[in-house]
Amino acid sequence: MGRNRMKGALPILVLLWSGLALAGHELDGRDIRNGQALYRQHCASCHGANLEGQPNWRRPGKDGVLPAPPHDASGHTWHHDNKLLFDYTKLGGTALMEARGIIGIESGMPGLGDVMTDDQIWDVLSYIRSTWPDRIREIQAGRNPPHGQ
Ligand code: HEC
Repeated sequence: MGRNRMKGALPILVLLWSGLALAGHELDGRDIRNGQALYRQHCASCHGANLEGQPNWRRPGKDGVLPAPPHDASGHTWHHDNKLLFDYTKLGGTALMEARGIIGIESGMPGLGDVMTDDQIWDVLSYIRSTWPDRIREIQAGRNPPHGQ
């Protein structure tokens, strides 16, 4: 008798648990395969087919503009919280800086908000996150300020 009851209770617990995780993180429960396809279409030309970034990405080019950094664990994408990554992708580097009061920075990162929906941007970011080792994923998750949705 007791065992049968346990069998029934477990799936409900699991459901509740994943529901809670979804509530806390925009990147959870996303379509990672779709994100990978979108990455190839919209990001790989600059950030690299294997997320490796452009050569010498830490140094500005002759035009003074920084090359595209890697999105894998060797870059600094995981140093940022979800919202910043989203805004960077949607608005582009220059507009994001301006929104934060920093004028006159020319960024090579275009705003993709015109060609991608918000959901598509989250799918891509979720794909990028899926390539990071667990430890780095945990550190990045810790950078997100607590929020209700
Ligand atoms: C035309 C080239 C180009 C394309 C296409 C492009 N990026 Fe970028 N991206 C850059 C450059 C150059 C930088 C670095 C300059 C800067 O930080 O302002 C950058 C910086 C970023 C950053 C901030 C730095 C970091 O690592 O956190 C994010 C996030 C980002 N890109 C995401 C994306 C995503 C996601 C896509 C595809 C949906 C994409 N980019 C497509 C050129 C590009």
